[in-house]
Amino acid sequence: MSEKNDLSLKELLDKLTIKEKVGQLLQIAPFLFIKDLKVEVAGHVRNLKLDEEKIFCAGSVLGIGSPKEMIAVQKKYLAKSRHKIPLLFMADVIHGYKSIFPVPIALASSFNPKMAEITARISAVEASSCGINVTFSPMVDLSRDPRWGRVMEGFGEDPYLISKMGKAMVKGYMGDGLDKSNSLASCVKHFAGYGAAIAGRDYNTVDLSRLALYSEYLPPYKAAIDAGARLIMTAFNTIDGVPSTVNSFLLRTILRDKWHCNAVTISDFDSLRQIITHGVAKDTEEVAYKGITNGLDIEMASSTYANHLEDLINRSLVDIKLLDEAVLRILDLKKDLGLFDNPYKGVDEIEDNNILTKDNLNKTLETAYESMVLLENDGVLPLNKNVKIALIGPYATSRSIIGPWSWHGSRDTHKCLEEVLRDNLVFCKDEEDVSKYTESDLEKIKQADVVILAIGEPDWLSGEAHSRTDITIPNNQDRLLTISKELGIPSVVLLFNGRPLIIDSIKSSNALLECWFLGSESSTAIKDVLFGKINPSGKLPMTFPRSVGQIPIYYNHLNTGRPYLGENDHNQYVSKYLDSPNTPLYSFGYGLSYCKFEYSNLQLTKNTMNPKESITASVEVKNNSDYAGYEVVQLYIKDHFARISRPVKELKNFKKIHFLANEKKIIDFIISIKDLTYITETDNEVYDSGSFSVMIGGSSDHTLIKDLELVKELS
Ligand code: GLC
Repeated sequence: MSEKNDLSLKELLDKLTIKEKVGQLLQIAPFLFIKDLKVEVAGHVRNLKLDEEKIFCAGSVLGIGSPKEMIAVQKKYLAKSRHKIPLLFMADVIHGYKSIFPVPIALASSFNPKMAEITARISAVEASSCGINVTFSPMVDLSRDPRWGRVMEGFGEDPYLISKMGKAMVKGYMGDGLDKSNSLASCVKHFAGYGAAIAGRDYNTVDLSRLALYSEYLPPYKAAIDAGARLIMTAFNTIDGVPSTVNSFLLRTILRDKWHCNAVTISDFDSLRQIITHGVAKDTEEVAYKGITNGLDIEMASSTYANHLEDLINRSLVDIKLLDEAVLRILDLKKDLGLFDNPYKGVDEIEDNNILTKDNLNKTLETAYESMVLLENDGVLPLNKNVKIALIGPYATSRSIIGPWSWHGSRDTHKCLEEVLRDNLVFCKDEEDVSKYTESDLEKIKQADVVILAIGEPDWLSGEAHSRTDITIPNNQDRLLTISKELGIPSVVLLFNGRPLIIDSIKSSNALLECWFLGSESSTAIKDVLFGKINPSGKLPMTFPRSVGQIPIYYNHLNTGRPYLGENDHNQYVSKYLDSPNTPLYSFGYGLSYCKFEYSNLQLTKNTMNPKESITASVEVKNNSDYAGYEVVQLYIKDHFARISRPVKELKNFKKIHFLANEKKIIDFIISIKDLTYITETDNEVYDSGSFSVMIGGSSDHTLIKDLELVKELS
């Protein structure tokens, strides 16, 4: 804040009553401002015990349906606001507003942060024109447990990839500056460790070591903050037994003291009041006390601040300075967003001007292209243009392919697979139960050159509060594969899902394409990949287990003192299962292409380096095919000897490179001391001289390797 601006906000703050200050910390639904509270307020809202005066002191709004609604609410609010402090409108714009992009786990599969930034930019243009100022995105919760439904909403299991994607989203939302008419402020979430819910059960306890917290779970939030996120949302879970929403270690020690961050902290939905249920507050007065003293600014969808803070301050139980700090952060955000100058910034009453434009939808198509992961292909793909297709399975005609958290996206304006494949269809049935296919159906399917199975989870089986213990393909849809097997017709499986599933039962199909939920142009994108107009280039951002019994399973694990060295290791006393390999079905970073990429000749400019130097690792990548396409070249590093045990490998860099048919390229990575540094259990960044391995490849489980020695600094 400039001194003048700082002064004017301070002057404004000094004019506010305590009630008005407390109001800035309240976030409620928009209808409360425009409905007749005596008539239409019920249920959860009645429990908020908010009278009209408190409502019209509120500082922000959760969710808004249209520019007209936003204008009506802001206008009515400002008419009653003594100091004309505008409302802040916040909403969940997670993977698009009306033009819907692939769900975040799919976007992460693109390994293309630049494209992620573009999706956020377009989302910001659409959402800001409809009156939204803040998006509750990016969600950067690291997760290693696909039973957790919200893996759909995150960027997978690797801190480096999550950080790159989260940073890109923040930049995209912000655009050329928060004061610009088409910008959104980012609210990074959920702070902290929400993805580590025990047993993958949403809202469950989280029990993380300091080492895991500092070295793996916190860095992505920091990356988003450093990229410019102006709010951070607290998680529902506890850390060290203290709910994140009132956890001063997180909200003060880490966020303010360590990261010197001045972002606005906001609770998750009702998560402040829920500390009573957690058992760390006996009533709503204690809730309000714990919230403000531990560093929570905005209370979303509960009203303990509105109902108790003024009294706590008047009784000198809470220092008004804590309230003033929080209010100043909120006023500062409103100023930086330009809302004091124009409370209707960016809103365009003619909603259609900026949304669902041809360009925006084209971008959803391009993003979808890069977000698919080809898991198997015996050569059946790409299909030739005259191929005769039998299309079966529930997703043959489904339009529920834009994925969860696409509030404003519509499920009926975009094409389904049957429509886009119509010219090649000899049969289509969206039945998931194989017993419902009659002899007559089979006769028709026999005419096909290929059977395409469009199967997977319904989109409502992932997302918030949608954890599952059984993550196999639902309702035995995989049995549809027996049709193509018995008829001796090649099969292509298109998998729709919001999380890694247990898919060993369809691994034997001739081709297997991970489609996730790809957004508005899903069907066209899939068709273009099937026919080779687009060459798939996605890589898995999260491990696919062989069975639920392996979970949590992830690539950057420790070696242990008794590692299992694989099927030729007959030592009984090693870390292995009696009934399953240790390896996953598909590894982090894995994904095929219509190209055949061959890696060779990994070279280091030097095999030793001191902390002040950097070296270059280079590798030859040859595209041994007649197809052009992208390859995500991945750099991993292993620290062999350190003061703590280090992962068997860690992603340190990646480059998505285009290759022409039969083209060979040399790909370089600069390696400096930051790539050899790690964070300890005391949150210190350190490095140790000694031996490292440099690994480069097209998947975490297929790399070339070279040794590297870090020597002590030259004296
Ligand atoms: C939900 C989610 C959070 C979302 C918020 C507002 O409970 O946990 O991610 O942003 O409420 O909708």
